[in-house]
Amino acid sequence: MSNQQVALITGAASGIGLATAEALVSSGRTVVLADVNIEAGESEAERIGGTFVPADLSRREGCSLLAEEVLDRFGRCDILVNNAGIQHVAAIEDFPEEKWDFIINLMLTAPFLLCKYFWPSMRERGWGRIVNINSAHGLRASEFKVAYISAKHGLAGLTKTAALEGGPQGITVNSICPAYVRTPLVENQIDAQAATHGIAPEEVISDIMLKKVAVKKLIEPNEIGELVVYLCSDAAACITGSMLTIDCGWTAG
Ligand SMILES: NC(=O)c1ccc[n+]([C@@H]2O[C@H](COP(=O)([O-])OP(=O)(O)OC[C@H]3O[C@@H](n4cnc5c(N)ncnc54)[C@H](O)[C@@H]3O)[C@@H](O)[C@H]2O)c1
Repeated sequence: MSNQQVALITGAASGIGLATAEALVSSGRTVVLADVNIEAGESEAERIGGTFVPADLSRREGCSLLAEEVLDRFGRCDILVNNAGIQHVAAIEDFPEEKWDFIINLMLTAPFLLCKYFWPSMRERGWGRIVNINSAHGLRASEFKVAYISAKHGLAGLTKTAALEGGPQGITVNSICPAYVRTPLVENQIDAQAATHGIAPEEVISDIMLKKVAVKKLIEPNEIGELVVYLCSDAAACITGSMLTIDCGWTAG
């Protein structure tokens, strides 16, 4: 078994997860990409030099099977990036109950279970990094995104509790809280809002998404990947329990 650190990224077939996987490969880690999208996951893993493991993380069994497979094949997990997520937009009174369950399972229960399953592997080596891809919506609310925002606020609680428990064991746990990042998740929202408001996609970006931010640009996925790599460096050993914003100044206002 090699001494190279092993990093697992969930939801790594697309967007922020994929950019993070690429950045971690470039930093010399053995990288495992997990995703429910098998076709994209396999081809992207091959392209960037990682290993793909299919996993449906909205199910508890999907989480335990993923952990078993990673530990069987690689013998360790040093870095866990909890990233997989979806969005659903609806008012509370219309919000489908099964969507609530799905989002809480995928975006809060799965990160908890994966922390729990990989904790012993990190504790044994006295070194571990858990990075939760949270959101500015882990710090602030907006209407019509109740399950997403509730899951992200819950993920803040998981981050802080795990950081307290992990400190004495060399395990750091942080949340990264971005505003809008240019990924398929956001591109779908741009198209949906353009149709709803009868305006051009560029106007959705400038007049709605960037209205409250100081830096008027969408964040690129690789900017999140680079921050993850920094949090996984020894220079970041004292950063734990943080809700690190990369939000163009949105939550400063
Ligand atoms: N894009 C943004 O503006 C933004 C902002 C803040 C936070 N985030 C967070 O970043 C994370 C990634 O979002 P993204 O924008 O890269 O989205 P994305 O849609 O590009 O990627 C999400 C990935 O998660 C995977 N996934 C979905 N359901 C899954 C399941 N059941 N099991 C395993 N994988 C599953 C998808 O297949 C996809 O590959 C999410 O947690 C999201 O909340 C995104």
